Amino acid sequence: MQVSSTDLYGSSKYHILTYGCQMNVRDSEIMAGLLEGMGCTATDKVEDADIILFNTCSVRHSAENKVYGKLGEITGLKRKKPETLIAFGGCMAQLPEVREKLKKIGVDVVFGTHNIHELPYLIKEAKSQKHSVYRVWDQEGTVVDAMPSRRRPGLSAYVNIMYGCNNFCSYCIVPFTRGRERSRQPEDIVKELEEIAALGYREVNLLGQNVNSYGRGLEKEIDFADLLEMASDVEGIERIRFTTSHPKDMSDKLIEAVAVLPKVCEHIHVPLQAGSNDILRRMNRNYTREHYLELTNKIRQQIPGVAITSDLIVGFPGESEEDFLDTLDMVKKVRFEAAFTFMYSPRSGTRAASWEEQLELEEKKERLQRLNQVQYQIATEINQSMQGAIKEVMVEGPSKTNPEKLTSRTRTNHIVIFSGSKDLIGKLINVRITETRTFSLFGEVV
Ligand code: SAH
Ligand code: SF4
Ligand code: F3S
Repeated sequence: MQVSSTDLYGSSKYHILTYGCQMNVRDSEIMAGLLEGMGCTATDKVEDADIILFNTCSVRHSAENKVYGKLGEITGLKRKKPETLIAFGGCMAQLPEVREKLKKIGVDVVFGTHNIHELPYLIKEAKSQKHSVYRVWDQEGTVVDAMPSRRRPGLSAYVNIMYGCNNFCSYCIVPFTRGRERSRQPEDIVKELEEIAALGYREVNLLGQNVNSYGRGLEKEIDFADLLEMASDVEGIERIRFTTSHPKDMSDKLIEAVAVLPKVCEHIHVPLQAGSNDILRRMNRNYTREHYLELTNKIRQQIPGVAITSDLIVGFPGESEEDFLDTLDMVKKVRFEAAFTFMYSPRSGTRAASWEEQLELEEKKERLQRLNQVQYQIATEINQSMQGAIKEVMVEGPSKTNPEKLTSRTRTNHIVIFSGSKDLIGKLINVRITETRTFSLFGEVV
């Protein structure tokens, strides 16, 4: 169909800036799909774009700062090219204090995490009425399924199985920005898995803030282990991953499902957050260090070769040196294959932000460094123990750091770089590990 010159969007180019977690990456794919439905096309160059869209994260102050820095740059671009439309969505947009700031900065469209589907109408309104449009739903509506999307290229696709979170960990903004927990219907998830398999994806990463509570509130009685079994039946999908597991809700049935279902990879991301029982209690995590140790011991016993990874926070309000040593102790006991480590960042509106006894930045930095030192040493040792081993990897494409080589991933989510023909891309092959480092492994085809 010919796009007429009066069409507002037919020739528009868009560029999306995505911050934050995998859910945002997935939401950006949906935003891209909606924009393409309007006739827009993607551009890699932000300066060529007619529509610049921010999909933002508010999990830590540093995440918000990155967005404000970039927004300053983009409003500079807009001054030179006033017809550029700036749209702002994601978790930051859910926060009233952020929206106040945006009014001063001047953006054209603001939308939230619950009304992504409205994006085309909001852009249309801003363009035709020539004024800013702010529309953010405070609360989640019913799950809007089957939205168009433009998935990122590659072998691995993200599929949401649930939205929101009910846990209200005392440090965390996510329940405020993503609303209450709700699970998607299993048949809609399976349908999406069949679609991605038909598109050529070989791996799926099932997403939820707490996948272990999948199924709560659905009419049909189903849990996450059942869903993994249903996902395993989808032809064409060869590897299944999932994130994130909450330690309080991880059932024996789920551990068994990971152990017995061949497509489900031996990797469990189960954030510990802190090692002291007092801190865990004040974080509202609802488990103890003893429970966590028992759980991870069970996981290691029942799933041979499993990788356990974690998220850890240092400098939570009132964290004493002793509490911090409890975290180090847990890290040494559990021996995580990898961990994301963060300095606690007060988030306005969460309970912990209002507590006295906030730690000084210098103290948090010092603890983060000590934690990383211990964790990196453990990861290095675990990697060294893989020297000479033969591992099944999925070949993803040219290595970013070493473009004449290929990059691949083991079932345990370790990256292996090796030399080989480009024909191997997309295949599952065996490699022998020939060299190990802290964050990557090198190998050769066997
Ligand atoms: N739903 C997931 C993780 C969501 S956010 C879970 O429960 O594990 C990802 C990670 O960010 C969290 O696991 C936590 O380690 C970290 N995080 C969340 N809020 C934070 C804050 N205010 N300061 C520092 N780190 C935080
Ligand atoms: Fe945040 Fe806790 Fe929910 Fe994870 S489980 S998203 S850390 S409130
Ligand atoms: Fe950030 Fe929102 Fe994800 S706050 S971590 S983008 S759920």
